[in-house]
Amino acid sequence: MRKPIPPQERLIVPLDLPTSIQAIALVDKLPQVQYWKVGLELFTHAGPEILALLRERQKGIFLDLKLHDIPNTIAGAVKAAQRYQADWLTVHATAGRPALEAAVTALSTDSPLQLLGVTVLTSLSSRELAVDLKVPLELPEYVLHLALLTQEAGLPGVICSPQEAESIRRVCGPDFTLICPGVRPTWADRQDQRRVMTPTAAIAAGADYLVIGRPITQASDPVAAWERLVAELT
Ligand code: C5P
Repeated sequence: MRKPIPPQERLIVPLDLPTSIQAIALVDKLPQVQYWKVGLELFTHAGPEILALLRERQKGIFLDLKLHDIPNTIAGAVKAAQRYQADWLTVHATAGRPALEAAVTALSTDSPLQLLGVTVLTSLSSRELAVDLKVPLELPEYVLHLALLTQEAGLPGVICSPQEAESIRRVCGPDFTLICPGVRPTWADRQDQRRVMTPTAAIAAGADYLVIGRPITQASDPVAAWERLVAELT
């Protein structure tokens, strides 16, 4: 069994900003935050520099690049990403078993980097999955299938909606890492998130880590919002 995760380490805050200057200003405004998520927008704008700035501040990094490519290219990208000393890096499960296995094989044996599978983007509706992508399974069943594929390929966890956390936890077991966005405390605006869960409900459903952005970053007092969230999880 894994060690229990302290509440303040369960929260990952996304750096949904275009430049490293803006991103690092936010990091310095919220020194309490231990894990930051760098996604495609910021990484494409700022490059690895932002990761170096986070490391200098001894922050944990969730590098959400959502790799989706042929096995050889994914392996090359994973090898290259190891030098950034991120904690997690995401790979789309729909890249397929050989690509997922190539990603795992590309890691050096002593690498602390954990690869996580992206199952189904929550921006996709059941209808789009059925009509546009011709997936013959219901969405929850497909998500579970992709989580199992990810686990069988040797990855230690997935990103999923908190709605899916309970079934993935049941099927993939207690040691499989689940990181969930789509989380909103009762006191925050939902913004564009549709199917949300509160932080405590998401943890109760089996989430290990929560990605929570705007309720903290756009609060009138971000530090107070952070503290309120940590208190809710304690
Ligand atoms: O501000 P908010 O809490 O909605 O931010 C959530 C973060 O998680 C954003 O970076 C968003 O892109 C990301 N995300 C999400 N839903 C997913 C996958 C990622 O909201 N299914």
